Amino acid sequence: MRWKVGTLTRSEDRALPASISDVLSGSVPEGRKVRIRGWLSNRRSSGGVVFLIMRDGTGWLQCVARRDVLGDKKLDELEKLPIESVLELEGSVRADKRAPGGYELSIDRYRILSVAWPDYPIAKKYHGPDFLLEKRHLWIRSKKMWCILIVRSKLLKAARSWLDEHGYVEVQAPILTASACEGGATLFPVDYFGRKAYLTQSWQLYGEAFIASVGKCYTLAPSFRAEKSRTRRHLTEYWHLEVEIPFCDLKCLLKVIDEFITHICHELADKAAEELRTLGRDPADLARVEPPFPRLKYDEAVEMLQAEGVQIEWGEDLTWTCEKVLASEFDVPFFVTHFPKTAKAFYHKPDPERPEVTLSADLLAPEGYGEIIGGGERIDDYETLLARIREEGLDPADYEWYLDLRKYGSIQHSGFGLGVERMVMWVCKLDHIRDAIAFPRLVRRRSSWSTTMMPMAYALVRS
Ligand code: 4AD
Ligand code: MG
Repeated sequence: MRWKVGTLTRSEDRALPASISDVLSGSVPEGRKVRIRGWLSNRRSSGGVVFLIMRDGTGWLQCVARRDVLGDKKLDELEKLPIESVLELEGSVRADKRAPGGYELSIDRYRILSVAWPDYPIAKKYHGPDFLLEKRHLWIRSKKMWCILIVRSKLLKAARSWLDEHGYVEVQAPILTASACEGGATLFPVDYFGRKAYLTQSWQLYGEAFIASVGKCYTLAPSFRAEKSRTRRHLTEYWHLEVEIPFCDLKCLLKVIDEFITHICHELADKAAEELRTLGRDPADLARVEPPFPRLKYDEAVEMLQAEGVQIEWGEDLTWTCEKVLASEFDVPFFVTHFPKTAKAFYHKPDPERPEVTLSADLLAPEGYGEIIGGGERIDDYETLLARIREEGLDPADYEWYLDLRKYGSIQHSGFGLGVERMVMWVCKLDHIRDAIAFPRLVRRRSSWSTTMMPMAYALVRS
């Protein structure tokens, strides 16, 4: 907070620079003169008074221009100023219960810093999702997108702070890779000087290399999936928070996830309550999350689904329909563990007591949201790993370096990957993943993709 009462040395009349959040937090004494800068996001007039709703990135504030203070000419100018123009306003702060946020600014003087064109394409009326994706670069200014972006930022801050406090080291690995981590079907190929490379699906394999150097570690990076699934929860480019932990079995992993997710939920309930409420999420839903989360074995999940009449055979992966049904039964996150080998990637460790299932775990968000985390124990034995690579029809030559990790100091280890947008979608109660990220990349279309630079691609996407 930049406002510190008591540090003011000059005349109380001098307007001091403040952010809207300073004003809304109540740290500006009533009657103090402040100067704010921001965008005019809305306006209404009534009987010699113009209400300007200003936005500066930290919040939204009602600012009041009065004819008896500013005079006719200036008031008319403000009344005609196009929405999204940028203003510097000076005035005094007043607590007013009727004002959104409980405070308003009475304007003494103003300066226009930028006059917007009068044809701002986003109006108050309903716009369809396609139009809003096309105008995404402007739509991110909306209150809804602002709240989501703030929650997303606070979520990542909470995640990082938990990891940092628990001794995890942040590391980075290449985005351009040579081989699949999560199966060849969803790889995006890239021409790498005449050779084929791929956009990474997951940092995990590098994470497993890092643990023998820095120990417990994590990364936050984009992952890419050429998924044909046009569901409400699939992006082709998403942000992936991945964690890898040496000397950790499945039980230890579940405990880490329990505590990690609980910490994030509690932090959001505490520090993003207002934004969550605006989005329709009661912060109490997140404050209520407590470890340990319910644990359900895959076998039990299949039985539950079959009892509900859902078509699923043992051995198949859980589709979104399955997850939706399961996730409607819970009001807190819950684990599904011990997936069959057939439903999981090659690196998952088979359960020594029942080798047809793996020591894997997905964390599913409640209220029908479904999988937000995938993870488990990794195969640490060289021969078993080589056999699984071959069994999946992969070329061991592509995994030579990864196999090396089992030759030189291999240990029991586990890890997980959190889909950032999946978690944002759940905590913000969104009905589509596209709103969990500023500029979504979807199978069918991309937001704010330059129409002038990519006319062909754009035409294809529109068709
Ligand atoms: O379950 P996945 O495929 O697991 C992995 O990639 C592991 N290598 C992670 C690890 O153990 N380090 O993906 C992990 C998470 C999913 O649970 C989901 O939340 C998210 O990534 N995810 C997607 N999010 C948005 N769009 C997609 N197309 C996604 N695919 C996966
Ligand atoms: Mg998964």
